[in-house]
Amino acid sequence: MSFRKVEDLGVRGKRVLVREDLNVPMKGTSIADYTRVDAAIPTLKLLLDRGAHVVILSHLGRPDGKRDAALSLRPLAAALSERLGVPVGFAADCIGDAARSAVDALDDGEAVLLENVRFHPEEERNDPAFAKQLAELGDLYVNDAFGTAHRAHASTEGVAHLLPSAAGLLMEAELNALSRLTENPAKPFVCAIGGAKIKDKIGVFNHLLQLVDAFCIGGGMANTFLSALGIQVGKSLRDPDLEPALYVLDRARVQHVELHLPKDAVVAPSLDATEARIVDIGDVGDNMILDIGPATAAAYAAAIEQAKTIVFNGPMGVYENPLYRSGTQAVGDAIARATAKGAISVVGGGDAAAAAHLLGFAEKMTHVSTGGGATLEFLEGKTLPGVAALEPA
Ligand code: 3PG
Ligand code: MG
Repeated sequence: MSFRKVEDLGVRGKRVLVREDLNVPMKGTSIADYTRVDAAIPTLKLLLDRGAHVVILSHLGRPDGKRDAALSLRPLAAALSERLGVPVGFAADCIGDAARSAVDALDDGEAVLLENVRFHPEEERNDPAFAKQLAELGDLYVNDAFGTAHRAHASTEGVAHLLPSAAGLLMEAELNALSRLTENPAKPFVCAIGGAKIKDKIGVFNHLLQLVDAFCIGGGMANTFLSALGIQVGKSLRDPDLEPALYVLDRARVQHVELHLPKDAVVAPSLDATEARIVDIGDVGDNMILDIGPATAAAYAAAIEQAKTIVFNGPMGVYENPLYRSGTQAVGDAIARATAKGAISVVGGGDAAAAAHLLGFAEKMTHVSTGGGATLEFLEGKTLPGVAALEPA
């Protein structure tokens, strides 16, 4: 992958249209998690320091092409201002007079955030006339919205064809880190994978089966694999359709990829039980599996500690509850130790990143991706339209 980079643009006095992914979780008008705001800062700061007129575009939530006050980006302008240490203006629309006059008023080293691009149905349709209206607000286009790069929308894809374009620093960092997993990864390569359903991750399995030496499987999807092997999992979350699990088991055997599955588990009679027990995987009975057990965690940690490349793609259990977080913690700590010894480690997928932050191992990883769907699609080997549309170097 080689594309033009924001550092290589001459931006002084130029209007630079920057697509960021400021799609943050909100509680009312407050920002509940600043990860994506913080991740947007380096590119914006670089452009401001170099005297650009910075015009920031983003979506927030899924307003479905209609104005929705609850999904206004206005609170994000204040958050950016605070972090950049300069005022960031706000325009109540991303096209038309409101946008044009806000952009015209900018001086060198000043920034404005435009309202949610998804208030217009043309955004998600990648409507060419809408993309043209956006493009008229800039002389250059920078795409820094890695988290939205899997969407071929007007502000992520359409506009890239209408202006000289480049990747932002976050986009670059994400693609560099993720490419280390898919382009000649250092071996052994281990993928710790969890989450509710195999179906959601079948594409990731398919692609990574060609690259990894082993999968360490946890979360709800492990129960489906166990079922496929004829092991009783009681009331545990599992997929009634065992086909995807059988398919992955078969492919792994043929390709000599190790599939590590739980040999013990933390179980309880229900999700809201106040006490949990550790049982061998054959003794789940009527219970629910809510985490991998300590013997499994030790086996996964041993596999991970020998690895030179590691991807963490989903929690091992219901980590939000302290009763069921030991497995995810043990796996995260093992990845941290391997990273300290020189392994490349990447956390990818929304749930995986949330677990890494909550359990305190995020800072010890080589890279924590800001992408959810985009990261999964990358790991599935798909081309991301927002990346494909950027100009080659
Ligand atoms: C995300 O958080 O997944 C991105 O911001 C893209 O949002 P979307 O899933 O609503 O397209
Ligand atoms: Mg999404």
